[in-house]
Amino acid sequence: MSNENVMAPGQIIKILVGVVVFLVVAIYLLAKLATSGFNVDAEVMTKEAVAARLKPAGESIASDAPPGMRTGEQVFKAICISCHGAGLAGAPKFGDAGAWGPRIAKGYEQLVTHALAGFNAMPAKGGAPDLTDDEVKRAVAYMGNAGGAKFTEPAVGGAAAAGGKIDPEVTGKKIYESVCVACHGAGVANAPKFGDKAAWAERTKVGLDEVQKIATKGLNAMPAKGGYTGSDAEFRSAIEYMVNHSK
Ligand code: HEC
Ligand code: HEC
Repeated sequence: MSNENVMAPGQIIKILVGVVVFLVVAIYLLAKLATSGFNVDAEVMTKEAVAARLKPAGESIASDAPPGMRTGEQVFKAICISCHGAGLAGAPKFGDAGAWGPRIAKGYEQLVTHALAGFNAMPAKGGAPDLTDDEVKRAVAYMGNAGGAKFTEPAVGGAAAAGGKIDPEVTGKKIYESVCVACHGAGVANAPKFGDKAAWAERTKVGLDEVQKIATKGLNAMPAKGGYTGSDAEFRSAIEYMVNHSK
């Protein structure tokens, strides 16, 4: 029983390795905390710091929707949430009717003016100068409505913004004549030609919804959405315009 109290060399090595691993992890965590967790208050409100923090989010959202076409919710989730999500530095917190009530009372126009130009610790356009004015307006409406307002978000997309019904003979024709005609007019690179009944009948056998899905993604020489940057509904109207005139 005498060697019960003496550790075998293998055990000592295991303990040493354990200690080293623990130290490495602890140092790593401390370093992480020091570079991200602390200094938040001092750093958070400088415009450079805001811009730096916003950049990655702004870029990722940019790939979700073409510039100028982001909804209020998308803009909020990419940009405004970094302060308004938690109510940082006195920002009225998202969904907090108590905080938003007095803001909403100023009226939509006033809030939009402040969101565009900046207001005390609120940077102009939330620190994301690449946002269009309409995108900022949509985000103001989205946040305001979550706080109890009944603002109307400016619609995404030209025809919809004009309040008009999307008619293939009007909107679709316009889009066709400005974008799609480049390839579909003469049937470039195997594009089904405008007016070619057989070609379009073959494509539309699967149904218009499916055709729209394929065309939205792009197919061989057909770029995604034909390169059109407006709304899905408008793009659909251009497809319908071509299909209707190829029957
Ligand atoms: C860097 C932090 C920050 C970001 C990012 C930010 N805000 Fe703000 N926002 C604030 C602060 C702080 C206030 C409160 C300012 C005050 O009342 O003094 C505020 C206030 C507001 C107000 C109320 C203005 C008023 O007149 O009472 C609106 C509207 C607003 N923000 C919209 C937005 C929108 C839209 C975005 C995103 C595009 C955004 N904010 C992004 C910090 C931010
Ligand atoms: C740069 C040339 C080009 C432009 C611009 C273009 N298309 Fe196309 N499109 C094609 C080609 C090529 C095909 C055939 C692809 C294939 O089958 O290989 C195609 C196919 C399609 C199809 C059939 C998809 C299917 O299911 O087979 C639709 C629908 C369509 N385009 C709609 C549009 C609309 C709407 C526009 C304008 C907003 C547009 N395209 C602009 C080249 C273009």
